[in-house]
Amino acid sequence: MGSTGPSSDIHRFPMQPLNRFQGVSASIKRPREVAHFSYDDSHTYRDDGSSISYYCPPQLGADLKEGFDTFRHYEETEDPHLDSLLQALMTQEKKRGGTREKADFVTWRGMMTKIMTAPFDMFAEFSMFATMYEGTIYIEEDFPARHADRQAQANRPPPRYQDPRQQSHQMMTYWGYKFETLALLPTPPAETPQEVIQNRIRERVSNHAQHCSIISTSFGPHTLLLGGEVDGLSGPKPPPSSNQPIPWVELKTSEELPPNPANRDVLKFERKLLKFWAQSFLLGVPKIIVGWRSKVGILKGVQEFETGKIPGMVRRGTGCWDGNVCINFAAAFLGYLRDTVKGGGLYRVTLRKKSGAVEVQRVGEGTGDIVSRDFLSWREEAQ
Ligand code: A3P
Ligand code: MG
Ligand code: MG
Repeated sequence: MGSTGPSSDIHRFPMQPLNRFQGVSASIKRPREVAHFSYDDSHTYRDDGSSISYYCPPQLGADLKEGFDTFRHYEETEDPHLDSLLQALMTQEKKRGGTREKADFVTWRGMMTKIMTAPFDMFAEFSMFATMYEGTIYIEEDFPARHADRQAQANRPPPRYQDPRQQSHQMMTYWGYKFETLALLPTPPAETPQEVIQNRIRERVSNHAQHCSIISTSFGPHTLLLGGEVDGLSGPKPPPSSNQPIPWVELKTSEELPPNPANRDVLKFERKLLKFWAQSFLLGVPKIIVGWRSKVGILKGVQEFETGKIPGMVRRGTGCWDGNVCINFAAAFLGYLRDTVKGGGLYRVTLRKKSGAVEVQRVGEGTGDIVSRDFLSWREEAQ
């Protein structure tokens, strides 16, 4: 699959026809957590579970816009590469006396979400870097490109006329975090004093602290180590040796549906569900909790969705996407990367809007800082 473009070093993996990915999905292993880490309230890396949060239903009627002017917003200004993920893997391997988690791919969950959802998003676009080191392909986001996009967006002049009910992009980013603050606690609800639960509504919102889970999974014949943020737990975390699923929850906000939603409202929500599902499915997050908000950001209700039931729900609903196609597409694409990103060197992996093919091109020597220096020297020492 795929062909070599006019310039011999651009390789193309076509998106269409999608029917080549239909049918039963490639075998998938249930994700198993192999390591984890936290960022504390100043976004400093910590080798522990200190930033794990716990779900406790929020008070309805809250205004998600409240506190916007005191938001402690963490935005990356420097390329994070895969540094924290590799740091956590190194630490874990040392703890286990050198037993290595081997995989064909190592990346952030966000990169896999972009790949998996691309077949059903005409406007999908992404840019990533990939490199092979010791038989494993490491994939990271093209941070300079994302950073430039964000700067351009921030510098764009506001439209001459704006509907006063239309909320700014910054506000819409804020209320997702506000919902998290209203629905999470730093300790399990049963161990938390009532006043702490009640006071969440006045708490200052910050996105500095995070907890990240690193899991091992596979797509068909390809094994992966994926790291990503998990919002909280809905019950105790089982001991690692038990091999039980972890009751993580993913929190999302979405505009409430009218009592008798028109087909286009359902379609809009089910399209959103594709991103919700892929993101949670990849890390093995079993439950997604949607906070329904009004147009102007009042929290109207919460609804729990079982991640594993979402593809069936959409199949019986608008049928606007097919989870098996997403999985098979991702498995085929990973195979293509293994055939293309070979030997040394840095590759750019790009999907441009409506271009119809993912392009893979070798753009430099070495590993381009995708694999951190600490990780490289540690591996060299181990040889
Ligand atoms: P919502 O998803 O409810 O809008 P996550 O859901 O992945 O845990 O992210 C938490 C919140 O971060 C989101 O809540 C949203 O407010 C903000 N956020 C995440 N990704 C974003 C993006 N690409 N652009 C803008 N805001 C984003
Ligand atoms: Mg999150
Ligand atoms: Mg969330």
